[in-house]
Amino acid sequence: MEILLNEIIENNRHLIKNGKVADYIPALAKADFEKIGVTVAGRTGALLYSAGDYNQKFTLQSISKVISFLVAAMDNGIEDIFEKVGCDSTDEPFNAFTKLDLPNVNKPANPLINSGAILTTSMIKGNGDEKFQKILELTRRMAHNPNIGYNEEVYLSEKKTGSRNRSMAYLMSSKNILEGDVEDVLDTYFKQCSIEVDTRDLAKIGRFISAGCEGINIDGISRTDMSILLKGLLFTCGMYNYSARYAIEVGIPSKSGVGGGIMGVLPNGMGIGIFSPALDENGNSSAGIGIIKELTRRLHYNIFDDRKLQVEIDTH
Ligand code: DON
Repeated sequence: MEILLNEIIENNRHLIKNGKVADYIPALAKADFEKIGVTVAGRTGALLYSAGDYNQKFTLQSISKVISFLVAAMDNGIEDIFEKVGCDSTDEPFNAFTKLDLPNVNKPANPLINSGAILTTSMIKGNGDEKFQKILELTRRMAHNPNIGYNEEVYLSEKKTGSRNRSMAYLMSSKNILEGDVEDVLDTYFKQCSIEVDTRDLAKIGRFISAGCEGINIDGISRTDMSILLKGLLFTCGMYNYSARYAIEVGIPSKSGVGGGIMGVLPNGMGIGIFSPALDENGNSSAGIGIIKELTRRLHYNIFDDRKLQVEIDTH
């Protein structure tokens, strides 16, 4: 597997030059755009296959939205979450929010765009740093890594330059969609985006979801159904306005972040983590998309690719 991963990295390394490191958050602009890492997490805990710069640390950014959504659902129950936030895919960029200002619109499209994520974070119970600590704790649990922390420099940089996020949060507050102290909520959101991981952590987070979200108890939905819901949400909304094409070309529930990470939920209790910080025009990792496309094609991991199933059936 490692040989295959190394080969796929080299086949896609050239895509780095099609992308650009995110610079709208100044601290992210310092990322080394040459780095590429991949980890596939197999079905059991010990099985991790890695290649390239798999131990390079980077920030979760939007991948944290999956985790804060889970924490908010655990705190409120599933019905209360979807009373406030939609479950619809969107063809808008991740930081769009003009539709929210329309008089008849009272819900962000889904919990994975910025406005939806800020809103779900606001629903997490707790004061001050408590909301963030819950997100960090669950991240550590999902990744089986108690050492995960956050990058203070990236957090402060996001806080200083986060005018767009601030605007949408205050707009939601003015419409009584978002409750609580807006600055406190934003602080938690900026911090959760700054949680630092490597591709091994991402792959294990993918595996946690694929394996059925063990230990997650949410009112109004069983653990199995929550895992199905989460995979569906990632499949339809996880890659922003590229989600539909990605669903066809890659066919794996995934979430990207502007730090350059992609977390993928592979079938049968497996996960994948990819890192390469040069981003395409949708805010997704340029080489990362190439790598996951080639890997899922070669190993028939696309959920619409029946050849894998055929192999499994033939061997029984
Ligand atoms: O809120 C922001 O703009 C960033 N902290 C996160 C955005 C992000 O990762 C979008 N992902 N592709």
